[in-house]
Amino acid sequence: MKIISVVGARPNFMKIAPFIRAVNAHNELTGNSINHCLVHTGQHYDNCMSRAFFRQLEIPEADINLGVGSGTHAEQVGHTMIEFEKILWQKKPDWVVVVGDVNAILACSITAKKEQILCCHIEAGLRSGDMSMPEEINRIVTDRISDLLLAPDMISYNNLIREGTPENKIRFTGNIMIDTLEDNRSKAAKLNIEDIFKDNSRNGSWKRFVNSFASDFAVITLHRPSNVDNRTVLQSIVRFVIDEVIEEIPVVWTIHPRTRKMMANFGLLDEILSQNKLLLLEPLCYLEMLRLNMLSKVVLTDSGGLQEECTVLGTPCLTLRHNTERPVTLTEYGGASVLVGNNIELIRKEFHSALKKQRNPTRPELWDGHTAERCLKAIIEYK
Ligand code: UD1
Repeated sequence: MKIISVVGARPNFMKIAPFIRAVNAHNELTGNSINHCLVHTGQHYDNCMSRAFFRQLEIPEADINLGVGSGTHAEQVGHTMIEFEKILWQKKPDWVVVVGDVNAILACSITAKKEQILCCHIEAGLRSGDMSMPEEINRIVTDRISDLLLAPDMISYNNLIREGTPENKIRFTGNIMIDTLEDNRSKAAKLNIEDIFKDNSRNGSWKRFVNSFASDFAVITLHRPSNVDNRTVLQSIVRFVIDEVIEEIPVVWTIHPRTRKMMANFGLLDEILSQNKLLLLEPLCYLEMLRLNMLSKVVLTDSGGLQEECTVLGTPCLTLRHNTERPVTLTEYGGASVLVGNNIELIRKEFHSALKKQRNPTRPELWDGHTAERCLKAIIEYK
């Protein structure tokens, strides 16, 4: 059997690592019955957004890099389709496997189906109901055309059923990102937090920060266009962090390239950089981010992956979004995350309540570290 797996952007890497390991384990038992090829579309290309993850998660170098890079959505999707079509003609795989919801999966699932190649979507059925999110469009289209839909939780499974997906196309396999978390948590626990600060900050700012810091800290990550591309929204979040959050607790802000660029454009960066109790870090690699999460008193984020990791680690999480495609991570479903949008009053209220909370790990069904094996089994047994 020939499988092409596709990755494009940062959140894909921690999802494909366990799948490739499952393929390798299967090949050892069966004398290489699967011919696997990894394609990187090249959407994320900086060392800290891509290569460092390959090294740390021991993902073999991609067999093919499409070199698509940054651009508008249409440019990213269009270029990926043009390049991926050539790969399909050349490799003629039986399956194309896509993970998550970034532009790469939309482009590659459409191209695969037009070539009448079977397509499997890992992390199928997530729905935010928010069509202004490009990821929601990617999820809906990919799920509609894929042959095998692997759902991370029963809410997602039921979303697919509700949309009329035939039941024989869907399997409930669990959350593949948690395989990576379980594989790496003991490695992450050995990392020294000051080394993380030192290695990932500019201009020695970590020394100033460490002096103002006892043990507790909060972590912030933001990258969604709805939070960072609008001056009023980003400015009000930054003001809240500087005027109120760091009065209570030191803050480590790991910064996505888009967010740094927008902070600079809106003239916010200098004031942020001058705060002793606010440390700006470069985008962190997987183990470093996991370590920060394990130690953090509270996480403020708009990342879906972090919501899931906070649930399993038990870190109180404020999700700066109005909706989520991952309701299973919300406190009302037993998770660790509360939706606060970008409403500062609500963020303030939930922030103060989170500071009083204890770490409370929970584990949704089948988030057990063995999802990748179930995904591969579903592909092999597909009829
Ligand atoms: C993408 C995904 C999003 C995911 C996020 C994780 C889509 C639609 N969005 O959003 O779901 O949560 O990745 O990071 O696929 N840039 C760099 N270096 C890089 C990559 C990007 O500097 O290696 C900069 C570029 O200026 C680029 C901007 O970041 O324009 C945004 O990158 P892009 O790939 O367009 O989307 P993300 O916002 O990262």
